[in-house]
Order: sequence, then structure tokens, then C-alpha cells
Amino acid sequence: MLDLLIKNAHLASTGKKADIAINGGEIVEIANVIEAGAGEIIDADGYLVTPPFIDPHFHMDATLSLGLPRLNESGTLLEGIQLWGELKPHLTLEALKERAHALVKWSIARGTLAIRSHVDTSDENLLAVEALLEVRKEIAPFVDLQLVAFPQDGYFRSPGGVENLKRALDLGVDVVGGIPHFERSMVDGARSVEALCEIAAERGLMVDMHCDESDDPLSRHIETLAQETTRLGLEGMVAGSHLTSMHSMDNYYVSKLLPLIAEAEITAIPNPLINITLQGRHDTYPKRRGMTRVKEMMAMGINVSLGHDCVMDPWYSLGSHDMLEVAHMAVHVGQMTGVAEMRSMFDAVTVNSARVMRLENYGLDVGCNADLVILQARNKIEAIRLRPARLFVIRRGKIISKTAPVVAKLALDGENYQVDFLR
Ligand code: FE2
Repeated sequence: MLDLLIKNAHLASTGKKADIAINGGEIVEIANVIEAGAGEIIDADGYLVTPPFIDPHFHMDATLSLGLPRLNESGTLLEGIQLWGELKPHLTLEALKERAHALVKWSIARGTLAIRSHVDTSDENLLAVEALLEVRKEIAPFVDLQLVAFPQDGYFRSPGGVENLKRALDLGVDVVGGIPHFERSMVDGARSVEALCEIAAERGLMVDMHCDESDDPLSRHIETLAQETTRLGLEGMVAGSHLTSMHSMDNYYVSKLLPLIAEAEITAIPNPLINITLQGRHDTYPKRRGMTRVKEMMAMGINVSLGHDCVMDPWYSLGSHDMLEVAHMAVHVGQMTGVAEMRSMFDAVTVNSARVMRLENYGLDVGCNADLVILQARNKIEAIRLRPARLFVIRRGKIISKTAPVVAKLALDGENYQVDFLR
């Protein structure tokens, strides 16, 4: 007797139809037809079944704080950082946790079951670190939360930046962060990359830096990050988040840079919703898009994974933590409307992100965790087009969220029609 049997699934992994048998929180069989008794049977009716969405770049300490203490009038990155600075003295443990838990419920309803969140370590009291460490434990049955020690005000630039980041790691924060383009000088930025990678190498931790989130084509900290990754043997452990300056770089320089990133096995994490809204703000027209060179990096074999970055916070007023919205924006901003390109953007919010977070037993294979999402769409491209209802969200074989199929009922001249936008 199985715990759960999913019939007539359209597998995101192979594009084929199959039944999926689940027992003890694991996928135990995938076959054309499985005839077996089960505690629960779901007829997926040809809808797409995928491993869960993953957000590899988020800020859970700032999320849902929109309007506190005021709105971002200019909508710029710098006013957002200033606003966050105004809010920080008023943060409480309870408020931080309440917002994080509210957000996680949205994530689950959207089928996002793994999140890597940066947490600001600039403050002496490490309040956000304390809050999110508690949240990580509390949500562990439902969502994998990985925390990155993020010196938002600068590792060298802010007083106590060096010590506070180390203390955050001592408390159990998982990943070493950084923000080299925000240090006082290019030299300090490069020094911060070296120092932070050394800390990661000493402690056996992964690295994920906000790197070159700038329109300045000479912001080249990604080069130092690749160099340090190779020097310290951190291949496969390092991510460069944003990398927006690469959009503006000279093509000849990029032709040297991309092989270095590939050699260091660095994952690139663009955040298309945020990059398209925050970059190019000093431009008149033509106005730069800002998102890094996704297509070109993928062609070099570099792992590219997309992040949401913000939901209703000082930097971004919108969002509901829907990773399909992120993939949808990436397709547009990166002009990735080729068939394989659109599919690759679905992978960028699922399997590619599992690689960067080093999630174990993630996927649609026998032996993988029974963490699955059934979408009201028939394939990956339709999922990106419609950003449809997540009909079932399953964690370790248990249904933890359900949404009824969305169908509009039309009455036109005495005739009734149903519209679900599927073709
Ligand atoms: Fe970020």
C-alpha cells in the first residue's frame, strides 16, 4: 500500500507521461502505469509535475516591510538601502519572524520549497540573524531555508562589519556573503572578496556574494571572485549574485571573463525582476536593461539560476514569491524566446537552483524526496506563459497546499463557455 500515487503526470524532467508512486516521503517508482493501492490518489490529468521551485536569492529579513517607515519615493536601489537603514533601529524579533512566516506561507502556496536568504549582518545585535535562525528551524518540515551572512553596509566599510559577519557564521549561518561593489574603493572591494573567500575555505562553507550590482562596466569583482575560487579550491561552492555590470562591459573583456567563471564553476544568480527595475537608472535613452548575460553564460556551460530577491520591501513593492514570474521576466529581459531558451528558464528556477544550494535528493527520480508541484499547465513553456495555479504542493509525500483549477465561465449570447487559457 503506497502513501500517495500520482496518475497521469506530465513529467517536467523528461516531458513524458507517467505515474509516480510515493512511500515514506520518497519517490519509489516512476512508470507508464502503476496499479497499486494508495492512501491517496491524485489524477494529474496530464498536467505538469515538477520538483518544487527554488528561490536561490532572497532577503527574508526585509520582506513584507513595504511602507515601513515610509515608501521608496524614487524607486531606486540607493533610496532602498537608505530606507532599510531607517527601518533597522525599529526592528523587533517578533516582527521579523511574523513577516518571514507570512512570506513562507506565500512561498509554499506558490510551490517554492527551498529558499536561500541573505541576512543583514551589519548590526551589532544581529537581530535579523537570530530571528531567521529560529525561522529556519521552525519551517524546516516544509521549506529548506539556507542563510547567507550578508554585510549589507559593507564588510570593511561598516564599523564592526568584519566581526559581525564572523559572529553570524559562528551562530550557524550557512553561507558567506559579501558586497564588494559597495566597499569604499575597487581595491577594498577586491580585498573583501579575498578575505571572505578565505573565511569560507577555512570553514568549509559556500560563498554567495552580491557582486557588481552596478551599471559601471569597470565593476569587475566577479573576476576576483573567480580568481579566489580557483586559488582556494572552492570550485562548485561559489555563486555570484546579480552580476549586472556584465551587461555594460566591453565584449572583448567578457570573452576573457566567461571562461574564468566557467573554470571556477561559479553559479550566476541574476534577479530579473529587480535588475530590470533598478539598473539603468542614470541612463536617459537608450536605457540599459541591466540583467547579466544569461544566454551567453549558459552557452559557456555556466550554471545560471534565477532569484526573486525581493517581495514588498524597500527595493520592490510588488511580487508574491512566484518563481514563474521570475522566469517569465527573464525570458523577456534576456530575449530568450527560443523554444530551448524558454525551457531553460524553467530549469533556472528549479534544477539549476538545486545545484547552487547543493540540495540533496532533489528531482524527479526514484529515491528523490517526494517534494512535487502539480501545475495547471501541460508543459514548461505553458507554465511560464500562464504562471498558473499550483494545484497541489507536496512535501515529503504529504499534500501541504491545494489550489482549485482556475476556470473562467463565460456567458455570451445564451452560450456558455469555459476558459482556462490552455492550448
Ligand atoms: Fe539581493
